[in-house]
Amino acid sequence: MDQIHWRPDSWREHETLQTPVYSDPDNLRTNEAWLKAAPGLIGFAEIDRLASDLRGVAEGRALVVQGGDCAETFRDFNEDHVSGTVDLLGALADDLEAATGVKVHALARLAGQYGKPRSKATETIDRIELPSYYGDIVNDPRFDASSRAPDCERMRTAYLYAAATLNRLHSNEISACTASSRPIYASHEALLLNYEEALVRRAPDGRSYLTSGHFVWVGERTRGIDEGHVEFLRGLENPIGVKIGPSTDPETLLGLMNVLDPERIPGHLTLIARLGADKVAEVLPPLLDAALADGRKLVWMSDPMHGNTEALPGGRKTRRLERLVDEARTYLTIHRERGSWPGGFHLEMTGEAVCECVGAGVTAADVETSDRYLTACDPRLNADQVGAFVRALRGDIEAASVAGSFRARTAA
Ligand code: PEP
Ligand code: CO
Repeated sequence: MDQIHWRPDSWREHETLQTPVYSDPDNLRTNEAWLKAAPGLIGFAEIDRLASDLRGVAEGRALVVQGGDCAETFRDFNEDHVSGTVDLLGALADDLEAATGVKVHALARLAGQYGKPRSKATETIDRIELPSYYGDIVNDPRFDASSRAPDCERMRTAYLYAAATLNRLHSNEISACTASSRPIYASHEALLLNYEEALVRRAPDGRSYLTSGHFVWVGERTRGIDEGHVEFLRGLENPIGVKIGPSTDPETLLGLMNVLDPERIPGHLTLIARLGADKVAEVLPPLLDAALADGRKLVWMSDPMHGNTEALPGGRKTRRLERLVDEARTYLTIHRERGSWPGGFHLEMTGEAVCECVGAGVTAADVETSDRYLTACDPRLNADQVGAFVRALRGDIEAASVAGSFRARTAA
């Protein structure tokens, strides 16, 4: 990586959105120091192995699926929840392998997905205005002033929960007799940079690895090219992602590609398109054409969730499976027409029997009234809905991967 002017803390010289202001700076420094002294969570060699796996995706030799909760919570820290995500992700990867005949790598939204960017900084209920919930690493979702105050001690709790969750992912890998014995890598949005900075560790050769996750991404709300989050990500050895929303133009995209992947390392950068079923056909082609003309080998992924969220009359947020399938199908068609490798999918999902998205037998009325609406943030697909998503797209995935493998392999 180009280290010129980059340091783990150089993000502090930039405007950094979606970052809490803590009331006790001394306590913040104490917690940051504790995290800096703590053992790194993930070894460098594992991160290098993911980098090599994603290089295979960028070169059209493999696919990748990324999935898990919108927001992990301390409340749901338990064996069933973690293994539910791991097993569902493993089953999804198996299904895609069966459909395409190519290797599928799995990235869980786990072991650090505790920070949430919000569209509104505050929430008002019954004329009481309090800070929004920014994820369990920042504050508590309960609606009272002390719960919503940012608490820097939560970073330590997040670290310890992440450590135990990663341990579970590792034990998954050694029990090679189970169905989901493929490596499941950990990923999250690198949002709370006080936490992330403290978990950077330097390898003996001087390269900087973020040990809080194998893969991290920068979100749609924080991907400003001159802002703190992009500054932080650009110096990391880890493979990284950037969410691409419908307002992105080709110039912005190329700017992000140059800043986040200055050495043009195959597979280093993943572009996660979250455009919406209505906009993908218009917005994706010029972006994809610009990236293909640039010529670097990167990973494309479709996140059909975040451009297709709607509020039901009662106020709950939901997503309709048919809209998700629509966006993903159009995404695949656009790649197929160009012979471009479709990369993979990014889904919000859980192994728990939730009733949060519409489709596969769940109606909007079910979502409105269900006591299985449990998400701490965005609505997730349940296992039936993930299965239905893959079945609906099976033929499109097969066709896009056949068309894409030619261009990717001849370029490799
Ligand atoms: C998310 O992935 O949960 C998220 C907030 O996504 P985006 O940045 O694309 O809105
Ligand atoms: Co989300």
